[in-house]
Amino acid sequence: MKKGYFITFEGVDGCGKTTQMKLLADYLRDEKDLCVIETREPGAKGLGQKIREILLNYDGEVSSQCETFLFLADRAQNIDTIVNPAVEAGKIVLCDRHTDSTVAYQGYGRGLDIEEINMLNNIATRRRKPDLTIVFDIDIQTSMERVGKDKDRMETQGVEFFNSVRDGYLKLAEMDPDRIKVVNAARPIGDIHKDVIKLFDELD
Ligand code: TYD
Repeated sequence: MKKGYFITFEGVDGCGKTTQMKLLADYLRDEKDLCVIETREPGAKGLGQKIREILLNYDGEVSSQCETFLFLADRAQNIDTIVNPAVEAGKIVLCDRHTDSTVAYQGYGRGLDIEEINMLNNIATRRRKPDLTIVFDIDIQTSMERVGKDKDRMETQGVEFFNSVRDGYLKLAEMDPDRIKVVNAARPIGDIHKDVIKLFDELD
């Protein structure tokens, strides 16, 4: 049977990872004739979309702990209904945000305990680990300019929060260099795409 791959795309809001994921998906389908599944967290489809709605648009009080569990609930649904079946069938699954988002945003950003988040992530994912994670790194001023004025609940956090999230991603990459690769995202889209293809080609 063909080997499936699970690849995750990470970075602060406005880093351009969604564009890069789409470009890689098109390239793998058109140039390599591979079967690619695209998903995202939060809210790939169905129940996940309902959870996404709450996470991004609810305008009342949301505790950090509750927020974390909602992201994890969506992750469990994504893993069980989309990621695991596809990877086990030998497909390539590209996922826009995954476990590292929770460590970076709720851990480094909101200050929740990182060991506890790791434990909860392991439960939500049934210990499935990405074969490759690409962090699109960009300074916060540029990322905030890209997000613009139309912000969702998460994007209304301040510069300090996003600097902690960015530092969190860079620490994660330092701690797990085999899985997590950092790409400089403050460059032209085509140059970044070439780096992404190279990282894909380096997978065993
Ligand atoms: P989304 O519109 O998908 O943002 P982006 O296009 O930048 O990926 O919104 C997802 C938001 O949720 C984003 O601000 C990051 C945040 N988030 C967390 O805080 N924790 C998580 O575990 C995940 C998956 C996302």
